[in-house]
Amino acid sequence: MPDPNGFTIDGIEVNAQKGQTILEVALDRGIYIPYLCYFPKMKPYGACRTCLVEVEANGRKMLVASCTTPPTPDSNVSTNNEEVMDLRRNVIELLMTEHPHGCLTCHRIKLCGPQDICQRHVSVTDRCTICPKNERCELKDTVRMVELDLRTPLNYHRRNLPVHIDDPFYDRDYNLCIVCARCVRVCEEIRFDSALTLTSRSGVALVGTAHGTSLLESGCEFCGACVDVCPTGALVERSYKWEKAEKQIKTTCTNCPVGCQMIAEVNKFGKVIRFKGDIEGKTNNGQACFMGKFGYDYSNSKKRLKKPYVRQDGVLKNLSIEEAVQHINDGIKGFDPNEIAIITAPRSTNEDVYVASRYAAEVIGTKNLVSVTNDISNVSKRLINNFGCEYSTKSIWNIEKSKCIIVIDGNPTEDQNVLGVVIKKAAREGAKIIVIDSRETELTRYATVWLRPKPGTSPLVLYGILRSLLDQTLENKEYVKEINNFEKYRRNLYQFDLSRINSDTGVLEKEISKAALCLGKSESTSIVFGTEQFTIEEANSLIDAVKNFTLMTGDFEDINSGVYPLYDGPNLMGTNIIFKDIESTGVTTFVKAINRGEIKAVMLSDGFNTTSGNSRKFINSLKNLQFLAVHSLFDNEITSFADLVIPSTTYIEQAGTIVNLEGRILPINPGSEVKNDELHGWQLMSRLAEKSKNIGFQYENSKKIFEEMSHNVREFEGISINDIKQSGVFVKNSSTNPDRRFLINHYDEINTTEISQLYFAPGRILHSSKDDISVVKENGSNILTYQNTININKSTSTKFDINEGDNVNVYDSEGILIAEGSVSVNGMADLVVGSTSIFGKLATEMENMDYPDWVTLFPKLEVKSATMKKVENLKGN
Ligand code: FES
Repeated sequence: MPDPNGFTIDGIEVNAQKGQTILEVALDRGIYIPYLCYFPKMKPYGACRTCLVEVEANGRKMLVASCTTPPTPDSNVSTNNEEVMDLRRNVIELLMTEHPHGCLTCHRIKLCGPQDICQRHVSVTDRCTICPKNERCELKDTVRMVELDLRTPLNYHRRNLPVHIDDPFYDRDYNLCIVCARCVRVCEEIRFDSALTLTSRSGVALVGTAHGTSLLESGCEFCGACVDVCPTGALVERSYKWEKAEKQIKTTCTNCPVGCQMIAEVNKFGKVIRFKGDIEGKTNNGQACFMGKFGYDYSNSKKRLKKPYVRQDGVLKNLSIEEAVQHINDGIKGFDPNEIAIITAPRSTNEDVYVASRYAAEVIGTKNLVSVTNDISNVSKRLINNFGCEYSTKSIWNIEKSKCIIVIDGNPTEDQNVLGVVIKKAAREGAKIIVIDSRETELTRYATVWLRPKPGTSPLVLYGILRSLLDQTLENKEYVKEINNFEKYRRNLYQFDLSRINSDTGVLEKEISKAALCLGKSESTSIVFGTEQFTIEEANSLIDAVKNFTLMTGDFEDINSGVYPLYDGPNLMGTNIIFKDIESTGVTTFVKAINRGEIKAVMLSDGFNTTSGNSRKFINSLKNLQFLAVHSLFDNEITSFADLVIPSTTYIEQAGTIVNLEGRILPINPGSEVKNDELHGWQLMSRLAEKSKNIGFQYENSKKIFEEMSHNVREFEGISINDIKQSGVFVKNSSTNPDRRFLINHYDEINTTEISQLYFAPGRILHSSKDDISVVKENGSNILTYQNTININKSTSTKFDINEGDNVNVYDSEGILIAEGSVSVNGMADLVVGSTSIFGKLATEMENMDYPDWVTLFPKLEVKSATMKKVENLKGN
């Protein structure tokens, strides 16, 4: 009886896993079959035929594309016999009829420089040596493998297409495209954006945007997935376009809490010249976002600080590290320990924050320890009580198993992008998406039901859904009958009357019922929610409502369902875990303490998003301090008033670990040396401790710190740094199992938002079909322009005496203009002003930022109180 999965490749006996093609089995066994249109984790396509093999089965021989063909049991596959090789050469010759290939088939390919005289008369612009992908071109590797040589006809049709260099971040040269469609497929199949498509020009298939528009108009999210899969020089990152990498380092992106696994390409000068998703990464499956793919370059900036300096009587004076450390010690002397605070950065590694926590406790004797912009610490206890952990209860990619996904007050497609990709994937595969958010985000375009409540009232809407589940008898009856306080909870829910909820939230009863119907009928649901509500009480109410929902639907223990709290900052979870034992509170509490003069001296690690209202308040509070020392990469707004500044290292010079939103400990691996007087966060704290004559702070390297943490931090207990390979290791969950009981809440405790004032709810989407969108050129770059629409409802329009078509300006509470446009009176909630922008506009602005670490200036969609004023004319976009 033959093995149903067994067959041979070139005489080697192999076994196929379920669903594998011949090519995949060969790749698993290290047997090389050339391929060009195939790419791991994408569906087989079968376009290029480069992967032809001969299959002999049941006495018949066939030539097949190995990337689309599953193995026949007991067959013999030949990858390199004469007939296969001949045919493959012919196929590749055909592929090259439109690709400049004079160099590809020349034996001097390794010897020629761009200026050499070519005896084959290949023009300079068509030579491999001037191609940005030279020596990392898959077409070139394939041609070498199949041994095409000088006898290959040299003539090819040059397309003479213009090179697109006017969109942000990457260039497109379709003269080099072999139409393998990898870019189109990754955009459509993996990212669900369809920004690129197959087009036709004079009957010839090509790649481009659907209507030949710029990428800004096409719905491109600038994730760079197309660039990462392109086998030739057709799609290439603009920065360091022609640079050659000396080494590749696997590491973790530190721009958001997903913790994407990335490959950093580093040149001989130690510069990171490319950053691309690692296809083996468990957190991201090879994907990244615009921040991960293109926001790495700050480490190479010439603007980086090189030496510490002190500000004395308004004059800046350079110091040695030794002097700077002494200066900090002198600066904090004389303050009571409770008047001193240590504030770490969202990018600080576990090692940095651990040594900072030791320094605070053992050297200073203060409990004032926090990560900038971190307010999740305020709600982490509630998360732990309700779900057993403060991170997500399941892995990111588990979301795709859910039949329904609720997204509440979160913008994951921008802020935790790869998690957003998984939601889009689930939607594509039939999952229903319910969005509860006053803002229009990319996910609202995928929503089966979009509930648009007044800002701050999302918990109430979720309570409305719970009530409606009961009203429609959609509770999971088998599950709830095992919960001993269900009857009490049922009675408690009577106070959540849908008409009252409608008047307090602005969401129609029938819409709540529709969402409840979707959710009640779903076999499994993942709940993704923001943790930064207006108040801590609101955030906690939402967390309680989420727990009650999972109990009502039976999703609490379902393997295909999960709970995903969202927050900002790459290592806030690690920081929270390490700081938890000292009961640190959120940054909001610190701002108040600084403003009241209770905290007088701060040591701050810089590098956080400075655009939010909370960040602005935090930065302003720092001006009240008597002493401020900043550990920073660049001179910026904060260093402009700091007493002392010490340069810090970046992700590429540091070894360490972070914890992502799933509770996965991930490695940061160095690829470059420290060149000047930059210090890692933990090094600065150790130096300060040593200066104070404290022993036990002399760490040889970050590994030693992790070793110590594995004894002292419960969640890291027993984990060895050697276990933390690229895919990471989950932290140990030492919490007791969460209680399987409903939480009883009272209506008035949940409904706390001030509803008599106006709120601004900004939105952002990738693509809009509005007619007034156009592109203008500025300094050779495409800039998106359009007329903003300001959305309000009828009642708001009456209250403010503003009518359809009027021009208005919207200001924040400090009188700063935050939006302008012409008014459309439609279905917003009362006293909410909505305005949706298009991502492409922001992408250009980010690329053109002067500040090298532009990720920290990326404006989030922050809901804030606002005022609105009618104006005659708009300034324009
Ligand atoms: Fe198989 Fe292209 S790789 S047809």
